[in-house]
Amino acid sequence: MSVIRDSELESLLAGLHSRSDAQASAMRIFEASRTNQAQPPAAREARAFLSDKLVALDRDKAEFCYQLCRANNARRIVEIGTSYGVSTLYLAAAVRDNVDAAGGDGVVIGTEYEANKAAAARAHFEQAGLSRFIDLREGDLRQTLRQIDGPVDFMLVDIWITMARPALESVTPHLRPGAIVISDNTERHRGEYADYFAFLEANGFRTMTLPFDGGLELSVRCEP
Ligand SMILES: C[S@@+](CC[C@H](N)C(=O)[O-])C[C@H]1O[C@@H](n2cnc3c(N)ncnc32)[C@H](O)[C@@H]1O
Repeated sequence: MSVIRDSELESLLAGLHSRSDAQASAMRIFEASRTNQAQPPAAREARAFLSDKLVALDRDKAEFCYQLCRANNARRIVEIGTSYGVSTLYLAAAVRDNVDAAGGDGVVIGTEYEANKAAAARAHFEQAGLSRFIDLREGDLRQTLRQIDGPVDFMLVDIWITMARPALESVTPHLRPGAIVISDNTERHRGEYADYFAFLEANGFRTMTLPFDGGLELSVRCEP
């Protein structure tokens, strides 16, 4: 049984996870071409290939994020990499359920630079009745995250790895003490995350790699 307990949302999510899973073999071939070929795909070619791929966060990782956001009563969440909105839906459901349980308000700030993905994500948010909890910022995250009002309780980093550190640098000044940062595939792509880990180490985070597929990093913002 899912932790979400919202049958309409679960059915929407099931369809989106299926679409993402159906693209997995094409993604694997693409990943192999990045690492095995003498000439990896050019940035423009790679962006074109990825522009219609969901690359959704795995269901167990997304449910784990929902649980963490319920446990710390998250009210302001930043999601790095929205795509078609799969992980956003889990995070927004957690905010909605926190608000229902204890009152107040909350928001998930999402980020996506592909216009077609952002449009599809907005349609999914509407369908799920969760739009009022989501502030989707369309464009390059290095611009769209310049303004963040108020302390951030939770951050999800699910983005091309070169963008992970710039995103963390932008959001860190807004993370409250004890805020949780989750990032995906940190074991599978350890070397590519080197600058991200260096930033965590230099800025008072305590971090551990959890044994989800590919490794899921759980970092806590502590006082340096
Ligand atoms: C791994 S996917 C996110 C998947 C999403 N979290 C989910 O569970 O459905 C990463 C997304 O980040 C977007 N992206 C990559 N670089 C970006 C940038 N510099 N600014 C904003 N979005 C970016 C990509 O277009 C892609 O859709």
